[in-house]
Amino acid sequence: MCGIFGVITNQKDISIGKIAFEGIKRLEYRGYDSCGIVTQFNSKLYVKKESGRIDEIQKKINLTDFPNGSKLALAHTRWATHGAPTKNNSHPHLDCSGEIAIVHNGIIDNFIELRKELTDKGHIFKSDTDTEIIPHLIEDFIKDGLNLKDAVIRALKRCRGAYAIAICYAKSPDLIFVARKGSPLVIGIDQDRATYCASDIPAFLPLTRYCYIMDDDELAKLEAGKVSFFNINDDTRIEKELQEIEWSIDAAEKGGYEHFMLKEIYEEPMALRRTMKIHKDQIINFANELWSASNIYITAAGTSFYASLAGKYIITKFLGKYIHAVECSEFKNELAECLRENSVVIALSQSGETIDTIDAIRWAKRKKGVKVLSITNVVGSTITRYSDHVIVTRAGPEIGVAATKTYCTQVLTLALIALEIAKLRKIESFEEIKKYYEALNSTPSIIEEFLETKVDSVKKIIRCLDKEHNFFFLARGISIATAKEGGLKLKEIACRFIEGYSAAHAKHGPISLVRDGFPIIFIAPPDETYERLIGNVMEFKARGGKIISLVVESDEKITELSDITIRIPQPGDRYHNLFSPITFIPALQLLAYYTALSHGLDPDKPLNLSKTVTVH
Ligand code: G6P
Repeated sequence: MCGIFGVITNQKDISIGKIAFEGIKRLEYRGYDSCGIVTQFNSKLYVKKESGRIDEIQKKINLTDFPNGSKLALAHTRWATHGAPTKNNSHPHLDCSGEIAIVHNGIIDNFIELRKELTDKGHIFKSDTDTEIIPHLIEDFIKDGLNLKDAVIRALKRCRGAYAIAICYAKSPDLIFVARKGSPLVIGIDQDRATYCASDIPAFLPLTRYCYIMDDDELAKLEAGKVSFFNINDDTRIEKELQEIEWSIDAAEKGGYEHFMLKEIYEEPMALRRTMKIHKDQIINFANELWSASNIYITAAGTSFYASLAGKYIITKFLGKYIHAVECSEFKNELAECLRENSVVIALSQSGETIDTIDAIRWAKRKKGVKVLSITNVVGSTITRYSDHVIVTRAGPEIGVAATKTYCTQVLTLALIALEIAKLRKIESFEEIKKYYEALNSTPSIIEEFLETKVDSVKKIIRCLDKEHNFFFLARGISIATAKEGGLKLKEIACRFIEGYSAAHAKHGPISLVRDGFPIIFIAPPDETYERLIGNVMEFKARGGKIISLVVESDEKITELSDITIRIPQPGDRYHNLFSPITFIPALQLLAYYTALSHGLDPDKPLNLSKTVTVH
């Protein structure tokens, strides 16, 4: 939610505007309501900002055009919370003198009282945002005689809420201050040449592979090619560990694909193969914790929540204990009286920064004896700081707002834990377990084959469904997770109304909407629910529904009842229904992708959504 980027360099003959523009463009997935850049030159700040998407803004006001010789810049892309998505509410925000500029991700909860206090002192505000109080507070402290660093610290101490901020000052051409509390912030270092700050690593990945991950209550002073860290509470120096980023540079680029979403769907086989190589000890730790737990909860948001529905199904099969899946925003409400000692909470989050997931586990950790196990795609993300054990999936950076490859790797990770539990409990023979592993190992090649041979069948369906606005996605058993996630993709990316539901339960309500030609997508792997699902398909067919089904290659019965099918490769004994949430989902992701394109929508920038939700 909102992206911030900053750069300070000592390099000559560079366009600071271009670096800032490209940096913030790589963060556009965090919000695209407005965008702005500030640079400093000859003791003056130069600001350009506008509402709308970055490319449109660029055409209008050329965001890269700033005075030559400027060595620092801050940039922001906004997902509006406080104040409409207008030019005035766009970041950067400045103080009255126009000498202090800031970009901010987060929410200052006590901004109303601070704004009143500052207005009473004569400060003039130009926006409706919470952010704007920060430069005015700093201005006040500088007027009182404090230096910039002390003024920033004093200002931040007056703010309640969450922030990742970057600040520059017209009179300080050689430094940027950044600080973090509750919102993500990383620092990139190109030793002795340039320093970057950003909400997420992909923003500076093409510029450097070395970074520091900031923690809450830390302030950093950025100078060209160096950085020093301080504790905001007592102003002491902090030593931090420099990390080398393993991701490849092209991870943050589209690499010839029209959209990140398409690129990331095609990266699924690679992401799965890498995730198969997660360190064994980490999987064993999770398996042991689940085995010895009295109660198990799994919590997440959005796509991660649907991955948790699939994963809990697989784990439960081998664990023999029920796992409660609870949406993170309701976790505290639902479990207020139930969380016990020896409970285990699994938190699933691609970004590791979803505020409701973080809140859920922070709250859970306060209960004595509760263990938190988290699965995330981002090393060092906030969620990892509140976890007893962490597994990092190896999907690589995911830029498309709609999660795709990370969903597959989350389900795979949970499946690996499930198989470890099966070994631990010795409930399956060695031969059986080997077969499960072979099937899991084959998921990447099944997806590869699908992407090589079946994409046309998806495109053909788009043509038949072009005029449709409402859809059901129905399934039974483990495939309900696939139905919900596949439906969510169509809803997010293609702006269609969908209901992802249990096929059996759909007769208790949703079926009343079915008329001639109403499209119903059935997820129909040949598992133990298949025969019953046939009955459900017939119920909907009898009422005129247009039946589109996802089946395996050899399917006959549901194919016969369907108007259209998408067939998932099923290579001999290397296919297993238990892992169909992984092998079936690319078809539905592509269905959403091509539907969006056919309606002229940008699949990488779905309306009103942000990839990382850092506000409640
Ligand atoms: C937002 C994104 C979704 C994502 C969800 C959870 O809603 O738009 O794509 O699934 O957050 O994010 P997380 O990073 O916690 O998996």
